[in-house]
Amino acid sequence: MAVRIAALRETASGERRVALTPEAAKKFIALGAAVAVESGAGEGAGISDADYAAAGATVADRKATLSGADIILAIQGPDPASISGYAPGAWLAASLNPFGERARVDAYAAAGIEALAMEFMPRITRAQSMDILSSQANLAGYKAVIEAANVYGRAFPMMMTAAGTVSAAKLFVMGVGVAGLQAIATARRMGAQVSATDVRSATKEQIQSLGAKPIFVESVAGIEGEGAGGYATEMSDEYKAAQAELVSSHIAKQDIVITTALIPGRPAPRLVSDAQIATMRAGSVLFDLAAESGGNVEGSVPGEHVVRHGVTIIGARNVPATLAADASALFARNLYNFLSAFWDKETSKPVLDEEIGNAIRLTQGGKVVNERLLG
Ligand code: NAI
Repeated sequence: MAVRIAALRETASGERRVALTPEAAKKFIALGAAVAVESGAGEGAGISDADYAAAGATVADRKATLSGADIILAIQGPDPASISGYAPGAWLAASLNPFGERARVDAYAAAGIEALAMEFMPRITRAQSMDILSSQANLAGYKAVIEAANVYGRAFPMMMTAAGTVSAAKLFVMGVGVAGLQAIATARRMGAQVSATDVRSATKEQIQSLGAKPIFVESVAGIEGEGAGGYATEMSDEYKAAQAELVSSHIAKQDIVITTALIPGRPAPRLVSDAQIATMRAGSVLFDLAAESGGNVEGSVPGEHVVRHGVTIIGARNVPATLAADASALFARNLYNFLSAFWDKETSKPVLDEEIGNAIRLTQGGKVVNERLLG
């Protein structure tokens, strides 16, 4: 029997994305799967039920969509109260926030669901096209700059007009991963004067190649902030002190600061203090993309604009959802690339290999099995 793939309407407040697009549905059907979509699932991303039906998917209510589903695709992990319709053994592939939503993971185990955390996808070349963190962070980096520009009461590019010259905005990006690189590129395109910093020395060249100025701690010997899988590691106290000093002198001259720094499984590093914000010019803007992970900026609140010392601190909250159509298209492609890479032609079902399966599988056979959660 054909494997049954289901996509549900997201229930979290403000979540406008959908984990399956008509394009992805069509491709799954071409692989031999049967695809069902909950009515209204694509609404927030501008996709109608008719679009899904035209792609060959069955559109139905939640109960019918879940009935007999082997693989459930979602953006966010469902509330345990809503998983009664999931068949034991069914796969749930989504962004499950395993460290932040540990109680949910236990509930998925108890329900016999095989939960696959897409954010645990290993950072290996063959998994790049399956990486939801990259696809969503890229959009978030872009949108952070747009939002900051919107709040900032001045222009980004230098303009020479008959009435006088408008000077270019100075924008500083802290944390140059996927989001930071896109923030740099976006701000450069908009004409800002851009500088950036990171703890991973490999980013220096990337910053330069985008036409921005690297601001790096040079005085602490033996620093290599790169840990496993290309992620950052927690830095020494000596490094943190040197970084704070460097940032203090630089930040006072900046108009916009975009922070994106994350350390997997730990709270986000604090990069900007209230005292540093006080040195910035009134009207400056900070966008804290790490606000939901504890915040890089002192005083940032997810989903809110907070004004301190005349400076606006924007706390990110599910930024990719504000670009729901593009974010959904990329998320759905990540899921398709993932499942299709493991498609077994004989059985017309995906079979995960050990490397990726062990990395992303949180629960199986009624138990939590992921070593990052057990260790
Ligand atoms: P992330 O979202 O975990 O962190 C954002 C950035 O903040 C990172 O560049 C990190 O080094 C930096 N950071 C952490 N602590 C900091 C501190 N105290 N001060 C300043 N900066 C700090 O990182 P992201 O965006 O997920 O990317 C990390 C790396 O992984 C990149 O090199 C990226 O190219 C690579 N990558 C590889 C993939 C693959 O091969 N499949 C897929 C995605 C990313």
